[in-house]
Parts: sequence; C-alpha cells; structure tokens
Amino acid sequence: MNDDLINCININKAYSQADEKLIVLSNLSFSVRKGERIGLTGVSGCGKSTLLHILAGLDLPDSGEVNFNGKNIVLLDRDDRATFRNKNIGFVYQFHHLLPEFSAIENVAFPLWLSGESKNNSLREAKEILDKVDLKSKEDSKPSQLSGGERQRVAIARSIINKPSSILMDEPTGNLDNKNVDNFMNLVLDLSKDLNISLIIATHDNNVSSRLDRLLNLE
Ligand SMILES: Nc1ncnc2c1ncn2[C@@H]1O[C@H](COP(=O)(O)OP(=O)(O)OP(=O)(O)O)[C@@H](O)[C@H]1O
Ligand SMILES: [Mg+2]
Repeated sequence: MNDDLINCININKAYSQADEKLIVLSNLSFSVRKGERIGLTGVSGCGKSTLLHILAGLDLPDSGEVNFNGKNIVLLDRDDRATFRNKNIGFVYQFHHLLPEFSAIENVAFPLWLSGESKNNSLREAKEILDKVDLKSKEDSKPSQLSGGERQRVAIARSIINKPSSILMDEPTGNLDNKNVDNFMNLVLDLSKDLNISLIIATHDNNVSSRLDRLLNLE
C-alpha cells in the first residue's frame, strides 16, 4: 500500500479546431499523496484549468488514467463521475460560482443536500462550516451582499461540506488583495491540515505557491 490519493498516468489531451490540433497535455504523469498541498503553475494557456477539469471528472482526457484511491475515474460514465465528484472532490473557481438567488448558508448546504442529506441536516452542517470560515454573521446574506473575500470563503465552505479527500482550486485568489490572499491561505492550509484534505491549486500568485508543499509546473 502507498499513500497516494491521486495517481495520473500518461494523460493526453488535445483540442481540435478547424484543421488545427492543439496538444495541451502530453503524457503527463504525477501523483498526489493524501493531505499533500500542490501548486499548479505555468504560463497562461499551458493547460492548468484543463488538467483540473480532468481531475474533477468534469472533462475526459483523450487517453491515460486518472486514479483516485486506485479507481480510474475515466472509466466511469457521466452520472457516476458526477456522483464521485460530489462525494470526493471540492472545486473552488476564480469567480466563486455561487448561486446568486440563494443565501450564503443555502449555497454551502447545497452539495450536501444534493447528495441525499435532509434539508435541515444540510443547513445545520452548513451553519457549522460557515462558523469555521468566520462567516456566522453573514449566513443569510446573498452573494451580491458579500465582499470578494467573503464570497471566496463561502465558496471554500461549500467545497468542504461533503468532507472531500481533495479540493481543486482554479486561481482562487485572482480577485483578492495581498492581505486577503494571506487570510485565504491561512484558512485553506488550516482546513487541509485539520481534515487531511489534499489541495491542488492552479495559481500565478507567488504568495500562494510559496506556501504549498510542492509545485507542478506545466510547460
Ligand atoms: N474547449 C476548448 N476548445 C479549444 N481549445 C481550448 C478549449 N479549452 C481550452 N482550450 C485551449 O487549451 C489551452 C489550455 O487552456 P487552459 O484553460 O487549460 O489554460 P490555463 O493554463 O488554465 O491558462 P490560464 O492561466 O490563462 O487560466 C489554451 O490554449 C486554450 O486556448
Ligand atoms: Mg486557467
């Protein structure tokens, strides 16, 4: 037994447009240990978002394996991949992707509710997690009534409610000032440590990458 959570083997991904073929990922292999915190770096267009989408099962590679705990998610059908994702993976986007018509607490509760938990239990759990990210007083606020940093904390709370084994983040600090980047990283690293969650964070920000265990630079 080893303690790899994620093991990717020879991932290939290309996009074809008109008669051009754009190779984005070529025979990419790497692994991520349980609880390990990885930065995904590289110039704009090198394939960071593409890789995160493949790891989350939102997109498929042309070939190669994406193993989570030894199970290759590439072989699952669409529905099973969605179920797998909801249970095991948290995703935090650059622009948070909160549902605008729902309050903070409803946004956080949503993935748990979706996975079959009762609405009341989901809301109760969401309340506790909002407390963890220091947003107890904002639970009834809509995303439009929150600051950028607060929205990002709601998005983090939402990403951990199903107790995922890993959280994937795509440029999560793109809209935060330096002080909020520090706060964000303190929070995310604490949660990762407390809950033994692996992190894979695509970032251009040195204040983020310098605090992670290891960097994976895509060329
Ligand atoms: N659906 C698509 N169809 C065609 N080409 C695509 C598609 N999605 C991405 N690409 C191309 O694939 C390459 C990798 O894109 P990707 O979004 O993964 O880059 P990135 O590393 O996340 O960049 P950034 O740092 O700017 O976010 C880019 O050249 C992009 O134009
Ligand atoms: Mg990107």
